[in-house]
Amino acid sequence: MTQQQSAPTDITTLARDLLPEVHDPAKVVTGGAVLLVDTRTHEVVDTNPVGARMVGGLELPTSLGAWCAAAGLSVRDADISAERALAAAVDGSSGVAVLSARQNAPDDLWAVGVPLAGAPGTLANRALVVMLPGTGLQESHPPSEFDGLQRRAAVASHLSFTISDPSLPDDPLIWVNPAFCEVTGYTTDDVLGTNCRFLQGEGTDRQTVARIRAALDAGQAVGETLLNYRKDGTPFWNQVVVSPIHDDEGKVTHHVGIQTDVTERVHHDRRQALELDAANRQTESLRRLASITQALVDLFDEESGAAALPALVAPHYGSWCAVLLVDEHGAPRIVHGASRDPERADDIAVLERSHRWIRESPTVLRVLTTGTEEISEPFPVDIDSLPRRTGAEELAALRRLGLGSAMVVPLRGREGDIGVLIVVSRDGDVATAFPPSDVHDIVALGARAGLALDNARLYRREQQTALTLQHSMLPEIVEAPGLDCAALYEPASAGADVGGDWYDVVPLPDGRVAISVGDVVGHDIRAAASMGQLRSVLRSEAWAGLSPSAVIAGVDDLVRGLQMADMTTCVFAVVDPPDDGGNRRVTYTRAGHHAPLLMHSHHDVERLDEALTTPIGAPLLTGDVPEASTVLHPGDSLVLFTDGLIERRDRPLRTQLENLLTCVEEVDPDLEAEASRDAIVEACADGTQEDDTCILVVRNIPVPSSGEADTEILGPHENRTGSRRGSGQSCRDSHQD
Ligand SMILES: Cc1cc2nc3c(=O)[nH]c(=O)nc-3n(C[C@H](O)[C@H](O)[C@H](O)COP(=O)(O)O)c2cc1C
Repeated sequence: MTQQQSAPTDITTLARDLLPEVHDPAKVVTGGAVLLVDTRTHEVVDTNPVGARMVGGLELPTSLGAWCAAAGLSVRDADISAERALAAAVDGSSGVAVLSARQNAPDDLWAVGVPLAGAPGTLANRALVVMLPGTGLQESHPPSEFDGLQRRAAVASHLSFTISDPSLPDDPLIWVNPAFCEVTGYTTDDVLGTNCRFLQGEGTDRQTVARIRAALDAGQAVGETLLNYRKDGTPFWNQVVVSPIHDDEGKVTHHVGIQTDVTERVHHDRRQALELDAANRQTESLRRLASITQALVDLFDEESGAAALPALVAPHYGSWCAVLLVDEHGAPRIVHGASRDPERADDIAVLERSHRWIRESPTVLRVLTTGTEEISEPFPVDIDSLPRRTGAEELAALRRLGLGSAMVVPLRGREGDIGVLIVVSRDGDVATAFPPSDVHDIVALGARAGLALDNARLYRREQQTALTLQHSMLPEIVEAPGLDCAALYEPASAGADVGGDWYDVVPLPDGRVAISVGDVVGHDIRAAASMGQLRSVLRSEAWAGLSPSAVIAGVDDLVRGLQMADMTTCVFAVVDPPDDGGNRRVTYTRAGHHAPLLMHSHHDVERLDEALTTPIGAPLLTGDVPEASTVLHPGDSLVLFTDGLIERRDRPLRTQLENLLTCVEEVDPDLEAEASRDAIVEACADGTQEDDTCILVVRNIPVPSSGEADTEILGPHENRTGSRRGSGQSCRDSHQD
């Protein structure tokens, strides 16, 4: 930095160190430049490092005019030179000027003149010019203070200056400016000769004070904001910057302090911090609620939802929690619990087994019968407040889990409460156990979880209905002489919807047998119902003795005319009676459906991929509906199937079709239809089935050698009864005979 050339006074180095470059954006005076100006000659005699940088190597002392020119300063809103504005500030006639700096400073600079009149020694003929970025000052004062020069002067007057003498015992103040007296309410007589700590009081942070002491003891500048008290006892937030002033030998001769009342800003910042904190907490709580609800929605049934809910809630609220579900008559059905402490899993298991503590709780009963809002308030709970008939084992578990405060919220379904959620905290202080934000969350959770569980319940009910409907519409396969038929319908998974797949075998009056497999687009009751209608139409068209192409064309007409179903794909085939050699002609049409497979008795597998037309219900692209025919030799089997058997989201259809061909090739052609069906399904099942599976295997029973005919033809049907595979959700049924 530029050094003053003339002999230093005892304190002429003052400005150099006055404002430290405390790089903390919260500090108003950060980056301020300080000039020490001779009030008689208007010469700049010294500057601090920031000031020196503004004029880049300019020799001192120099005139105010030269300094302003070197710094590129002009006056923002008055028609005078920067030099005159600063001179007025130095003389104390304006107090403040607002300047624009051409370089090195992005913001307006506020130049505050502080005549050191009354200061000891040569300082009396000096004035400080403190230049501060205007934005810093504006942040610490309400905007209303910024409309006019007088206002600005008023703001500037908030900056108070103090000088202390560390060579005297306890570093007492030896000079203060009028702003200091104005801000603190003390007179100069009150304060001179006293250490400035008299401004501190009960609320002053001792760690902040310790930091100031440590910096001053180390001879360093320090900037801190701390709570001070005026003479009348009112507190204010004081932003203090204290800089040591060194003599030529480097000894600290004085301390200069600059105080700014930043109460408004601190309060504003705190309010903002509080608001931000509240907003963050709210976002966090919404996110948590959403993730808990989503986790419940992802579970397709109410039972697993009820089991999952406590585990989702326990980590966030209270010490442990439980869910009680009731049936449609309000009778307790099931209890699930979870504890934040994983060690207490056994106690939770006890409470899940024995329910008296929750079933007979008056609060729970009140919530269930009235759904009262008021019960959502947390309340104290102890062993004595438990239902009288609570079992000894339950009591012991409850003691170990801990009681203190609790909340009971209804789990609201569409048509009433479907249960309650109980959250218990070991903390006996209701207010700390359940702060208002938690109370709000838990009530909201009750509502959201209730709906999610209710949805799962409805979903399960609807799925069950659709499944029942579909099963009731899937035919028992009637006996078709000389043909061995086995079919299977299997829904994709427990969580998936019911589809509109079907299979059918219909012996026709003229001795032929109609067979079909198809799939109505959609996965709901509507698809299942459409499937039922469509299959009936297909049957009646077939019964009329029409050819497969005519049947498909007729069904398509009806479906579109009556708007019976959305898009449907199917294979429809008619198997003729056997000729003398037992061979049967098969005529077929495919309406947008996968090609059936023909398993020859000599191990070859053929794809019947001709006679393709558009799906039923879609506009006909090709004009006439085609049909094709082939021969089913004795021992040959037809395999008709729907998407679910082969389609996998992550694998190309072509690969899957090839896989199927390979699987079918490996099936022993001598197997009966049912065994073939099982072998194919087994080979294709890889646990990733995404759609319902429907498969129909029709085998042309080989002509028996003499004497065996009757048993051979009837035999296969006898051991096909009771071949229901799987159970429960999978509902994998086979129907024969
Ligand atoms: C020039 C100067 C001005 C000071 N101004 C203040 C002030 O406005 N408010 C305050 O709390 N402390 C102020 N201090 C700090 C205290 O005077 C004192 O240094 C601080 O409390 C640490 O010392 P202690 O632990 O001995 O009290 C100032 C110090 C000096 C040297």
